[in-house]
Amino acid sequence: MTYPTDRPAVWFVTGTSRGLGLDLVRQLLERGDAVTATTRSTGRLLAALGDGVDTARLLPLSVDLRDEEQVAAAVRKTTEHFGGLDVVVNNAGYGYLAAVEETGDRDVRDMLDVQVVGVWNVLRAALPGLRAQRSGHVVNVSSVLGLTAVPGWALYCAGKFALEGLSEALAAEVADFGIDVTVVEPGYFRTDFLTRDSLALPETTTEHYPAVREMVAQHLELQGKQLGDPVKGAAAVIDRVVTGEGPLRQLLGSDAHAYATAKVRALTANVDATAATAPATDHPAT
Ligand SMILES: NC(=O)c1ccc[n+]([C@@H]2O[C@H](COP(=O)([O-])OP(=O)(O)OC[C@H]3O[C@@H](n4cnc5c(N)ncnc54)[C@H](OP(=O)(O)O)[C@@H]3O)[C@@H](O)[C@H]2O)c1
Repeated sequence: MTYPTDRPAVWFVTGTSRGLGLDLVRQLLERGDAVTATTRSTGRLLAALGDGVDTARLLPLSVDLRDEEQVAAAVRKTTEHFGGLDVVVNNAGYGYLAAVEETGDRDVRDMLDVQVVGVWNVLRAALPGLRAQRSGHVVNVSSVLGLTAVPGWALYCAGKFALEGLSEALAAEVADFGIDVTVVEPGYFRTDFLTRDSLALPETTTEHYPAVREMVAQHLELQGKQLGDPVKGAAAVIDRVVTGEGPLRQLLGSDAHAYATAKVRALTANVDATAATAPATDHPAT
């Protein structure tokens, strides 16, 4: 994508009343760009932005990302209001901490509805326009836990791993249309992510996973002490889009980089360990 320089770029950002999404909206408005900010509560978003931010180029929309019609209407309103769309940021997401067997059916569906179905709804609505104009940038906010999985985070990882697969395929599909795709993989960032307002827990737990309970307690304790600065995180995302330079996956944070490095080494060792056994299932060469 060639980032527009002769007019304000138009951004569509999901999950904006808190955290990284809120910092993105704030910095984009300060740049003079135009932003559609979707949220479950426009009141909370506007209160969080406060009086110090010029909202003339803000279109705040209350959207249930799980609802395809609502998402399509939000993208339509964006192009009607601002005359186009350049950048889509699928940012909305939340954590969920439980052992696999403690994770309820409704909890699984809710997570995948937000982190996979919701993203797909946004893409289905936005891609035809980006494809027709042969320009655009899709940013999908994943996590380093979209690359590596740890005990107690299975459901969150399932959603983010799905987002990674979707994004990698999408990047290859739309490159010829001039559409860029970036997957953002933060480590721990000092947002509301680990507060009880954002983090979900299972309805019931069992006594069989004391290590998971301990991990949950440690993470609630970590709130406010995370390594990553969301102001810098939002700036890094904007910079990646504006310059158009960088790889498909943008890790954010030295913790994320260390986890990803360990995962790549373990995966390489795993792939190497099957080098002799994998070909055994081939049909004989004819
Ligand atoms: N902070 C971290 O440590 C960290 C690490 C790796 C990845 N991430 C990812 O970064 C993204 C932003 O998270 P954050 O750190 O900024 O956390 P946050 O402060 O809790 O903000 C999350 C945002 O996502 C939206 N959201 C949360 N639950 C939702 C739901 N059930 N349905 C729809 N929207 C929902 C909220 O939007 P509204 O309330 O405005 O609707 C909120 O603004 C997420 O995708 C998260 O998975 C965060």
